[in-house]
Amino acid sequence: MSQLPTFTSMKAEDGLRKALGMPRPDLIAEISASGLKGRGGAGFPTGVKWNFAAAAKADRKYVVCNADEGEPGTFKDRVILQDHADLVFEGMTIAGKAIGAKEGILFLRGEYTYLKTHLEEALARRREAKLLGKEILGQDFNFDIRIFMGSGAYICGEETALIECLEGFRGEPRNRPPFPVNTGFLDRPTVVNNVETLAWAACILQKGSDWFKSVGTEKSTGIKIFSVSGDCAKPGVYEFPLGITVKDLLQQVGGAGAQAVQMGGASGLCVPASEFGRQIAFEDIPTGGSVIVFGPQRDMLDVLHNFLEFFVDESCGQCTPCRLGNRKLLEGVEMLKAGACSMAYLQELCALGESMQLASKCGLGQSSPNAFLSVMKHFRAEFMGRTHGFVNA
Ligand SMILES: Cc1cc2nc3c(=O)[nH]c(=O)nc-3n(C[C@H](O)[C@H](O)[C@H](O)COP(=O)(O)O)c2cc1C
Ligand code: SF4
Repeated sequence: MSQLPTFTSMKAEDGLRKALGMPRPDLIAEISASGLKGRGGAGFPTGVKWNFAAAAKADRKYVVCNADEGEPGTFKDRVILQDHADLVFEGMTIAGKAIGAKEGILFLRGEYTYLKTHLEEALARRREAKLLGKEILGQDFNFDIRIFMGSGAYICGEETALIECLEGFRGEPRNRPPFPVNTGFLDRPTVVNNVETLAWAACILQKGSDWFKSVGTEKSTGIKIFSVSGDCAKPGVYEFPLGITVKDLLQQVGGAGAQAVQMGGASGLCVPASEFGRQIAFEDIPTGGSVIVFGPQRDMLDVLHNFLEFFVDESCGQCTPCRLGNRKLLEGVEMLKAGACSMAYLQELCALGESMQLASKCGLGQSSPNAFLSVMKHFRAEFMGRTHGFVNA
């Protein structure tokens, strides 16, 4: 059986044919009615994003597919691009029609270079079949897609850093506003969507918004694709409806004995066993799809150490809270491991993490303290024994 049965059940072209027969406002209304929220992590409503870009006045507009997939523990976009590239390209083409763009760019993670030939071949087949290029399916609509290779920096997944990179500059986040929907690639309105979001957009056009929202919760409609790794019997890529509890997910993947699960990758939240009844949904535990399972034998300080080393490496260094804050949190974890961190200093580190969430310029620094803060919230008692004579200092 395919890893992704719903995507496998889709009929090629049906969604695009339907979209090309619809006026642009109706097309966007269908996406809005589905309740589709961005699958890249932030959960921004896709219909709203497309509407902003459609409403913006400009001589050119762009659709960018974000296939940077740098979040630790995330590998679902790789599987979607490998097995369902046509759905992603169809979603991009539909987005192009919706906002009035003629050009799409797939920003492909540098480490996925091995997928490039496969994707170029899919694009060539689509041009041949008149699903891309001039007068698509005989309609007055031109749209084509090119592939741009990323160079392997996590920050380039952040949409404004990605756009800088596309323009040939260092991949560093821009100030927001203005937002890419108004001032994006080459200062033109640009929709940036995750690989999975675009594939679902193609499915929604094919099967309708009611079909999509028939699963999930009221605020988090549809199915989500998850990348599951760590201490479980069946790691891999899974489809589950949004709203599934952590406990039910763990049962499906053979991770029932876990002490904690990191939801949403290194920048996400650490959920302890006492909270496994919570729902994976934008209104409870939001996620871009990474699920890392930690069995009872894992030392959560080692986990944090690993995540913080990653953020220290990947911070672009533009702003102080992130550039220095991640270093201080890493040092703090090292002190904790050595039993040399006082409770008072630990409190200061937690306050620093909260300041980073508020004061960092982009999502990297705003979310990098999440794991530290949630691990300290749930596992502090366990670490207190390691603070030796400093506990009350
Ligand atoms: C540091 C950082 C890395 C990111 N990496 C990715 C990524 O690899 N893929 C992705 O789709 N979104 C990533 N995002 C989120 C994007 O900025 C953007 O919100 C997303 O591509 C929008 O697509 P969506 O609305 O379909 O989710 C990242 C954000 C940050 C702050
Ligand atoms: S938060 Fe970090 S990654 Fe983002 S702009 Fe500041 S230094 Fe760069």
